[in-house]
Amino acid sequence: MESQSQLQVLFSRAQIAERVAALGSAISLDFAGQHVILIGVLKGAAIFMSDLARALTIDASFDFVGAASYGKGSKSSGEVRLTKDLDRSVSGENVILVEDILDTGLTLSFLQRMLLLHEPKALRVATLLDKPSRRVEPFTADYVGFTIDDRFVVGYGLDHNEQYRNLPDMCILDPLPK
Ligand code: IMP
Repeated sequence: MESQSQLQVLFSRAQIAERVAALGSAISLDFAGQHVILIGVLKGAAIFMSDLARALTIDASFDFVGAASYGKGSKSSGEVRLTKDLDRSVSGENVILVEDILDTGLTLSFLQRMLLLHEPKALRVATLLDKPSRRVEPFTADYVGFTIDDRFVVGYGLDHNEQYRNLPDMCILDPLPK
């Protein structure tokens, strides 16, 4: 068991709630009177998506995709593969792809290309965190909760080796356990 003393709150649950409410308002305004499909990227986006969905004042349905990068441990080869596909096509739909964190940009670029093959009516990307300094593939999200420096963050869905996802606050894990 890793020590809790390595965790330092970066964004409290109150700060997160405030940003998620603002993102929900922006999406509701942009898609006023329309239906959207929220597509969450498993597993990290599950908590963000459940709060974002309830911050919307428009009709929304849900789907989930899974993606993993080839490579060992934290070293990624840069190739992404789909581990869970959509349950149904999003052809002609307003799609909001919901991710926990935009880091190198490889995962979202891959998923964006995959979703565009369905020819949705609109495709937007919402990410709670954005680490622009880490980008390998250029990518800009449409809705961003917080832009942060290159720190490893856990909590509110984000994990380290599957731990910490259920923390209500987002915390910096430092130093990173081996
Ligand atoms: P990208 O393809 O590098 O943009 O990868 C995004 C994925 O990397 C996220 O969905 C997370 O699973 C993981 N990731 C990147 N940075 C962090 C972090 O600070 N904490 C936890 N997971 C992270």
